Amino acid sequence: MTEQAMTYNYKVVSQFAVMTVVWGIVGMLVGVYIAAEMAWPALNFDIAWLSFGRLRPLHTNAVVFAFGGSALFATSYYVVQRTCHVRLISDKLAAFTFWGWQAVILSAVISLPLGYTSSKEYAELEWPIDILITVVWLCYAYVFFGTIFKRRIKHIYVANWFFGAFILTVAMLHVVNSAAVPVSLMKSYSAYSGVQDAMVQWWYGHNAVGFFLTAGFLGIMYYFIPKQAERPVYSYRLSVVHFWALSFTYIWAGPHHLHYTALPDWTQSLGMVFSLILLAPSWGGMINGIMTLSGAWEKLRTDPILKFLIVSVSFYGMSTFEGPMMAIKTVNALSHYTDWTIGHVHSGALGWVAMISIGATYHLIPRLFGVEMHSKKLIETHFWLATTGIVLYITAMWISGIMQGLMWRAVNADGTLTYSFVESVQATHPFYIIRFVGGVFFLSGMFLMAYNVLKTVSFGKGAVTATIPAPAAAH
Ligand code: HEM
Ligand code: HEM
Repeated sequence: MTEQAMTYNYKVVSQFAVMTVVWGIVGMLVGVYIAAEMAWPALNFDIAWLSFGRLRPLHTNAVVFAFGGSALFATSYYVVQRTCHVRLISDKLAAFTFWGWQAVILSAVISLPLGYTSSKEYAELEWPIDILITVVWLCYAYVFFGTIFKRRIKHIYVANWFFGAFILTVAMLHVVNSAAVPVSLMKSYSAYSGVQDAMVQWWYGHNAVGFFLTAGFLGIMYYFIPKQAERPVYSYRLSVVHFWALSFTYIWAGPHHLHYTALPDWTQSLGMVFSLILLAPSWGGMINGIMTLSGAWEKLRTDPILKFLIVSVSFYGMSTFEGPMMAIKTVNALSHYTDWTIGHVHSGALGWVAMISIGATYHLIPRLFGVEMHSKKLIETHFWLATTGIVLYITAMWISGIMQGLMWRAVNADGTLTYSFVESVQATHPFYIIRFVGGVFFLSGMFLMAYNVLKTVSFGKGAVTATIPAPAAAH
């Protein structure tokens, strides 16, 4: 074996880990800005590319695909090497996925504020960028599965199953939902029309939640919680049941985004029923993650990284309880179109996705750069800023959401509406300010993280050279 083949490729992992922090700041800064615009609309300064409608998709693309995506690339490349005891199958292709993904993000950062959009939520990017995404994703699939293929450990650790399902499903969702007829370089029309278009879009949208924002991050949970807690996974058998049950159930639940629309009623009911069933595998996974701490609970008192990881799994449990409830048609009649949905989104997105990404990044940085984190105290401060920020954000949205739903449906004895729409906007205003403050808390934690990571990385001499253990040694 050559010397290089005996070491792990940490370069690409560290590049993605650092970009997780950078894109986290960019995406959340835009989030805080649009939260401010909701409270003080004059902040768009009548400039089209600063308007809410253009910055909102920039926020969602930056946090989901740039921040979350970088965390997933970093962790999956790290975990697949460490658990298979081999170097990535191709350094060149791995480097291509890094630069290609940055190019996709940069294209989004330029094209979305300029107003180019396919107008499909979470799939707004126009067709030339969609093609680039497909090419990068296929290379990612080759690097990940190729590495699994040449592994030196017979067993494929469960985290890799989750990463694998995420990569395969996202490829399928992206290609099917982005099918379009181009009419110019930056304009295309969907290949589907009417209610079929809506159905395909929310099959994509919901499974983007299920596989991009959930399955991949469950891969993170199954590797990083046991490692950080220094305990084996609570139940390996449960993790396998969790994997198959979750993968099978998620794919059917999309129609809960289209309740009371032109979509055939039986399809809506099917989506509702599968969403309710989804509670079981989701909670099975959550329990497995949290119970991995059995016998090591005291570590939570002193280890802020573990706090990030465990609190994230708790939020995962909370949002996967709330989601099935909101999928019940009668509940959805109240929650849809209101800020309740936004609260649900961020209890999943900030509480689960961002917290676990932050925890995993703090775990990775010292191992990648061969130095201790600059300050454990700053990680602790970050944890409390983030947690306070989330609580402010989601409680504000729950209250304003339920209030909006109730105000919009209130009728007088003579059948007229009790409240005009603008009265509900007025009543919502204080909650938008609270949400903005929550966002500032969360974002300031990210700045602390950037400072801490920068200080740490500048001590090290770049990514370390880590030797692959000889066969038969444990990982
Ligand atoms: C500082 C933190 C953040 C702030 C202040 C923030 C703020 C916002 C705001 C104001 C909206 C628009 C809400 C509306 O249209 O009424 C939004 C939407 C959204 N954000 Fe965030 N956000 C933050 C972090 C995140 C993160 C980390 C993620 C994902 C990992 C995320 C995912 C989303 C998604 C998916 C939507 C669209 C929701 C929907 O269409 O229902 N956000 N965010
Ligand atoms: C068992 C799991 C879950 C179920 C059954 C579920 C169900 C739902 C329902 C019913 C809605 C409202 C649809 C509407 O009225 O328009 C919704 C919206 C949403 N959920 Fe969940 N949810 C689950 C977990 C999660 C998690 C863990 C996340 C984030 C990581 C998440 C992210 C979102 C997003 C981004 C939206 C807004 C979509 C949009 O309209 O743009 N969900 N979910």
